[in-house]
Amino acid sequence: MDKLLIRGGRELRGEVLISGAKNAALPELCAALLTDQPVTLHNVPRLQDVSTMLKLVRNMGVSAERDDNGTVQLNAAELTRPEAPYELVKTMRASVLALGPLLARFGHAKVSLPGGCAIGSRPVDQHIKGLQAMGAEIVVDHGYMVARLPAGRTRLKGARILTDMVTVTGTENFLMAAALAEGETLLENAAQEPEIVDLAEMLIRMGAKIEGHGTSHIRIQGVEKLHGCEHAVVADRIEAGTFMCAVAATGGEAFLRNARGDHLDAVIDKLRDAGCKVASEKDGVRIASKGPAYEHLKAQSFSTTEYPGFPTDMQAQFMALNVIARGASMVTETIFENRFMHVNEMVRLGAHIHVEGKVAMVEGVQQLSGATVMATDLRASASLVIAGLVAEGETLVDRIYHLDRGYDRMEAKLRGLGADIERLTGAAAA
Ligand code: EPZ
Repeated sequence: MDKLLIRGGRELRGEVLISGAKNAALPELCAALLTDQPVTLHNVPRLQDVSTMLKLVRNMGVSAERDDNGTVQLNAAELTRPEAPYELVKTMRASVLALGPLLARFGHAKVSLPGGCAIGSRPVDQHIKGLQAMGAEIVVDHGYMVARLPAGRTRLKGARILTDMVTVTGTENFLMAAALAEGETLLENAAQEPEIVDLAEMLIRMGAKIEGHGTSHIRIQGVEKLHGCEHAVVADRIEAGTFMCAVAATGGEAFLRNARGDHLDAVIDKLRDAGCKVASEKDGVRIASKGPAYEHLKAQSFSTTEYPGFPTDMQAQFMALNVIARGASMVTETIFENRFMHVNEMVRLGAHIHVEGKVAMVEGVQQLSGATVMATDLRASASLVIAGLVAEGETLVDRIYHLDRGYDRMEAKLRGLGADIERLTGAAAA
């Protein structure tokens, strides 16, 4: 099992290229299932979840070729098995995004229930509720969602969908299903993330009729067929935010090429309030901060909430900054019920954090000390890397397969900014 060995204390300086967004690429790979014509996706990040999604669609009979510069060519003309098997779905919950497109195009689909996840139970009941509102008959049978259209119907029908809570992948499933449904679909409390907007723009390129994407009300007029398209995946705002927190924590200055500052307002506001200089430029974002953080930055309280609020996917990384900034801060996680698993690992590095339910109380310390820590989930592992970059001595981060799921060559990018970080594999990692 690979590990990351980090020697802390070095400032980060230079330029880093931000990759395409994992949480846009995953639904967009599924959008290719909606047509029998070729689809080309550019700027697809090189990470484990994308490899898993490619395996999933190939398993259905879709041809999917990825080249070395982030372009994926897909063709679902020969899709013969509208199914997502358990052994793939259990490793990546986003497989549920195949349900809407398969149902919309073929009228039936069999997708494994995802099961639990480290950060919460993360049910998919809202996905089922919305697709049932569009006329689908969905039963759970031996761990699978078995979905089909009622006898006599060849298409889903447009519906008004109001979910119990805002759901990102739920909104994405409904968008893709509604694109081919008969009539109009209205999503009443849709998610507003930039990845939703990017997916909608790709679907429009395929001939879909969508308006209101990026707001809580999205209106879709179904069409009979969708054609192929070429689309570039939007830059990953969470990867960009992660690097911003790393530069803030270590001190230094970096230009994040392709980062979209307008997709990170809530995080950038907090970084500026802490004392960082952040500037959106034509083709990226520049961040500068003096080190050590304890002398120059003030810890910031925040609550995670749906976009455009502070993203839950940035909670662990910003906490890593609060841990070594000056003063006390309150971090409130309102989206997932178990997204503080990085706390105990940070305490091993010398952090002062106390958790009460949804709130973590952090007291900044002047110095962390390196130790062996264990990654527990994707963004927790990123936060431990940030903490290791500032801790005195060596930090060994174990189980970094969590990190590899959602970050494109993170240690190489950090080394490019001057970090002392290396991946231990095989015997070296034993
Ligand atoms: C997406 O997950 C992202 N994943 C997550 O990113 C992100 O943390 C999350 O949205 C919130 O922003 C992808 O886009 C692939 P939700 P998703 O449905 O869609 C509850 C990362 O680190 N809920 O918006 O699964 C759910 O339990 C990952 O990149 C139901 O109860 O999240 C949660 O409490 C982690 N029933 C809340 O809603 C449902 O049917 C929001 O979940 C659906 C959701």
